[in-house]
Amino acid sequence: MALPGDKSISHRYAMLAALANGTSKIENFSPAADCRSTIECLRRLGVRVESSGHGVRIAGSGLKGLKRSRRTLDAENSGTTMRLLTGILAGQEFDSTITGDPSLRRRPMGRVIEPLTQMDAEIGASDAGFAPLTIHGRRLHGIEYTLPVPSAQVKSAIMLAGLFADGATSVTEPVRTRDHTELALEEFGVKVERSGRALTVRGGAELQPRNLAVPGDLSSGVFFLAAALILPESNLVLHDTGVNPTRAAVLDVLAGWGATISLLSVREAAGELVGDIAIRNSPLEGGVIEGGDVAQLIDELPMLAALGPYTERGVEIRDARELRLKESDRIAVVAENLRRMGATVEERPDGLRIEGRSAGKPRGAEIETKGDHRIAMAFSVAALGAEGKSTIRGAECADVSFPGFYEALEKVVER
Ligand code: S3P
Repeated sequence: MALPGDKSISHRYAMLAALANGTSKIENFSPAADCRSTIECLRRLGVRVESSGHGVRIAGSGLKGLKRSRRTLDAENSGTTMRLLTGILAGQEFDSTITGDPSLRRRPMGRVIEPLTQMDAEIGASDAGFAPLTIHGRRLHGIEYTLPVPSAQVKSAIMLAGLFADGATSVTEPVRTRDHTELALEEFGVKVERSGRALTVRGGAELQPRNLAVPGDLSSGVFFLAAALILPESNLVLHDTGVNPTRAAVLDVLAGWGATISLLSVREAAGELVGDIAIRNSPLEGGVIEGGDVAQLIDELPMLAALGPYTERGVEIRDARELRLKESDRIAVVAENLRRMGATVEERPDGLRIEGRSAGKPRGAEIETKGDHRIAMAFSVAALGAEGKSTIRGAECADVSFPGFYEALEKVVER
């Protein structure tokens, strides 16, 4: 099967195309509601965007081409839209307001406000550091900043603000996170200096328009890999999938747990690695996920946790406090839904431990998604192996990253 375009990469290509001098064409642009939020925000900032089929054409007017939006920008459910755009908007010659849905308005924005303020940005938020954010555009200056929490969104917000800042802006990340912003900046013609774990950009660069194709989204593909591991005698190939090393740790985890998985015809496209992933149903050992690996598996943890009852030794996740700050409190919501399915789960402040097969076969249950797309998809897959029927409440939230997910799952399961 082919997956929709990668959500993280689509956001970045759209934003950089909007800042480039000319029109970019982006193929296989993610159909995710999150990426639509980015496109709508860009339109409100005066950028012309045309969609056709799976592609978009974005007419950039250069670094200074954005226009003030009279209306509040709405990132809806998308943390990436809000955090990355805030970096860009902080350096404009106009003011902006950006808000989001109730889930996004409960997610921490202090982590971007703090470094951007050091760059001289002026950003208003609620006392707790939540959106709506009022961003007063300012002349920014470069800083050197070390990320206190591993976050690709924060790293990206600072680097994007750096495009508008005087001098050099450096970000150091103690733990490596997805590097799509760095790769995309280079693709659009911006020099990114790397030294150890520090990345530096200089203000005032000219971005060149590009014709690009977005690789398939491995974070969406993981639900299908997991389905193949749950359903006996399965065989599946995910074509043209992004396997950037900062995103592909999940393949190593599954292989380490005993999955028969192979990566075929790996190639490079616009700095990103793309390949075909073949998987065959295989018994899973399970294991522990902890430390620096957590940041590289952050979006895959709900699915890996929900595989727990189908493994021999169970699954344990540690050092993953960040999971509580996603579209939902993913530690609590995963624990709750696994328990509803009869699994034995210990919830901890920074993770969970899920007992394996010996604790019994999961049973069908009413799943509460809490409006979180990855919970809806992870438990739809987990339900495939359960005894009896499951109901996914609020299932439509899957559209946030994967419109057409249930149809795609049905098709794969039928074959
Ligand atoms: C993303 C970074 C991660 C991830 C999110 C997408 C990105 O968030 O969970 O789904 O596109 O940069 P954090 O930066 O908050 O870890």
